[in-house]
Amino acid sequence: MMEWHIIHLKEIDSTNKYCYKLGKEGKRNLIVVSDVQTGGVGRLEREWYSDFGGLYFSILLDLKEFKKKCKNENIGKLNFLGSLSTLETLIYYSKNNYKNLGIKFPNDVIVNVDNKDKKVSGVLSEININYGFLVLGVGINVNNKIHDEIKDTATSLKVLEGKEFDRFEILDRFVDNFRNNYFLDDDEVLKKYKKHSKTIGRYVKIITPKEEIKGKVLDIDYNGVYLAIDNEIKHIAVGDCFHLR
Ligand code: BTN
Repeated sequence: MMEWHIIHLKEIDSTNKYCYKLGKEGKRNLIVVSDVQTGGVGRLEREWYSDFGGLYFSILLDLKEFKKKCKNENIGKLNFLGSLSTLETLIYYSKNNYKNLGIKFPNDVIVNVDNKDKKVSGVLSEININYGFLVLGVGINVNNKIHDEIKDTATSLKVLEGKEFDRFEILDRFVDNFRNNYFLDDDEVLKKYKKHSKTIGRYVKIITPKEEIKGKVLDIDYNGVYLAIDNEIKHIAVGDCFHLR
């Protein structure tokens, strides 16, 4: 049985930064959750709005323990576990939209409303190989307000379902789902992830530090996406992914 001690803060700059610091001090198996973040960070050094009402937490995981318990496992699995466990949690709480929820590569939980994809949750994982830990940070728009400048691309559980939710009930359920998925084999997690993927089969634009590429996504694995471009199949490991049509 995996046990994570939960630390609840009222305010912090970023639960990821805080966990990273604790990780370097030798702490492990903790979840830090904060009501508000004053400097929430997203992927690709973006800001993550973190007003009161949303669920913002980070899990500090021990990589040595992960390798021991889950033999021959791919660390990429931990990353996908974030969005997969969030998605399962949101499906549980959603009466109106559970069929429209899915995962956008790599780790966003999105919902399709009126033919538009909107983001409900994002994951930022940060690894420190030397110290042997991984911080998995999850932000879920629960009851928080959605700022005007992201209204077109983001939504919250409250907007979707027309009522407020208990953030800590959601966190508990996430932890249960995460714990169950943690012990599944690599390929089982990938299979589940792919079943919920809204990126497979889509035309996408991927912006990597080196190039901008467009193509149809044929498949996804722990190392990235397989894109069909003209008569070629290209494997792309990192980048920002946009669904085109
Ligand atoms: C993204 O989609 O760009 C990732 C967003 C990750 C946000 C969460 S909120 C809790 C944790 N602390 C942070 O500063 N970021 C992550």
